[in-house]
Amino acid sequence: ATNKTLTMIKPDAVKAGHTGAILAQINEAGFRIVALKMTQLSTAAAERFYAVHKERPFFGELVEFMTSGPIVAAILEKDNAVADFRTLIGSTNPAEAAEGTIRAKYATSIGENAIHGSDSDENAQIEGDFHFAGLEQF
Ligand code: CMP
Repeated sequence: ATNKTLTMIKPDAVKAGHTGAILAQINEAGFRIVALKMTQLSTAAAERFYAVHKERPFFGELVEFMTSGPIVAAILEKDNAVADFRTLIGSTNPAEAAEGTIRAKYATSIGENAIHGSDSDENAQIEGDFHFAGLEQF
């Protein structure tokens, strides 16, 4: 069935000027953009978005990085969106990401890894609604 996923192009990739190339690769892979914006997360917003990771040793670093500059958030629609998007972006650790994936091309480390993709349909819904009001989702 057609479903949705939420992505964020992270501050490292936006800063490096990769936004256009990444959006083009996402489109070429067959995803439709349902919602799109550039924004910057506050500390409180990043802590809320990543609340499931708050006991992890890297939580502070993650919040600091994700608030360090603008991000580009988008809701994407495609058959099998969550799984296909995770294939397109590659492993969390860019050293393990398959050739040609977005992280293989643009990520620099496990922390500064260029892009986010939701890990389940349930989280795609939660994360999409985190970034976009209903009227901003087309
Ligand atoms: P993402 O999948 O967007 O959401 C959780 C993030 O935590 C993940 O991307 C990584 O950027 C980050 N992360 C995971 N493991 C580590 C780690 N060992 N050190 C720093 N950041 C990490």
